[in-house]
Amino acid sequence: MHSAVDVIRAKRDGGELSDAQIDWVVAAFTRGEVADEQMAALAMAIVWRGMSRRETARWTNAMIDSGQRLDFSGLARPTVDKHSTGGVGDKITLPLSPLVAACGAAVPQLSGRGLGHTGGTLDKLEAIAGWQADISAERMRELLTDPAVGAVVCAAGADLAPADKRLYALRDVTGTVESIPLIASSIMSKKIAEGTGALVLDVKVGSGAFLKREDQARELATAMVELGTDAGVRTVALLTAMDTPLGHTAGNSLEVAESLDVLAGGGPPDVVDLTLALAREMLAQAGIDGIDPADALADGRAMDQWRNMIRAQGGDPDADLPQARHTECVRASESGTLMRLDALAVGLAAWRLGAGRARQGDPVQAGAGIEMHAKPGDSIKRGQPLLTLHTDTPDAFPGALEALRDAYTITPDGEFAPAPLILGRITA
Ligand code: URA
Repeated sequence: MHSAVDVIRAKRDGGELSDAQIDWVVAAFTRGEVADEQMAALAMAIVWRGMSRRETARWTNAMIDSGQRLDFSGLARPTVDKHSTGGVGDKITLPLSPLVAACGAAVPQLSGRGLGHTGGTLDKLEAIAGWQADISAERMRELLTDPAVGAVVCAAGADLAPADKRLYALRDVTGTVESIPLIASSIMSKKIAEGTGALVLDVKVGSGAFLKREDQARELATAMVELGTDAGVRTVALLTAMDTPLGHTAGNSLEVAESLDVLAGGGPPDVVDLTLALAREMLAQAGIDGIDPADALADGRAMDQWRNMIRAQGGDPDADLPQARHTECVRASESGTLMRLDALAVGLAAWRLGAGRARQGDPVQAGAGIEMHAKPGDSIKRGQPLLTLHTDTPDAFPGALEALRDAYTITPDGEFAPAPLILGRITA
């Protein structure tokens, strides 16, 4: 007979939990037999005491086993997915999924909605008229099998790692999110249950990321690569910079428009570079050689694939994107070089403008967000537009402007040293 109190005490005192203890506590919590306050106490003990590689792997498996595991192993094309730990202006999934599908892989991507200052892929795609995030596992398989579509971005069903859904909601309100084994097992339980054969992780580092320091991001990436590999999913991680937002937009329909620029063969260099770097990793993990994804962007194949992918989920790729009813411009207070544009400040301001939500289930504004007219390294003239703020609710402007007060630095004779976008690569 297991007891929740014994499991909590064992971890509180620095012990290792047995496989049986982990299986029991995760399953009993999912059934509602371990109370929220007991699981919260255990999560806090894990934050302090950590978990070994064995415990983390077992915990991940227990969360997978709490629900359904999708299986795409019978598809004719190799499956590969990408997961980002979340950043500001991170719209990479939008051009990346159809691009990789156009190069011959199937991309099953269960995505989330945004919470807090980082945007969610589903919120972005829902800015497209008619597009539906909820599709069945059978329909998902059909679309992945169709070479003209080959990529599905959709919401995870309620039965995918339900233990994680309950636990993540509890961690969110008990100060227990910040634990590498808990974060790694949370992310990887969903990705492994999703049934992908290979996975590329984009672990963000910097002010706008969940983890601010490179050593923490490296530790998380290593833990996730180990979990994926141990579960038979070919997994690699890139550590990428998130001190400044990606591209020139943050906000749902603004980011869709920018993604369309990338799919049309243009777009901001950082978004294009990261899309191509992740596409190359995904194709390598999927075992597809000899195809340069840059060609599929340049010749329109990725755009064709995008249009099919959007139509397949009920969206109209030709519909005008929603625009916010009000805008306000922030102008440069001096001339010089833009040395810094802070991702966290921009994310927070976009969120306050209505692009993100404060609580799960809140609505988001499709058109709200921020356009950035300059990026670090650009020469700036006093009075030129730096940022345009978009919202349907103009009473949000003061809060957004407050978030942006120290968001950027312009130096009259600054020597700008560009920082690398890709900081590291972690393999098994
Ligand atoms: N994202 C997740 O899915 N889980 C975590 O624990 C943290 C970020």
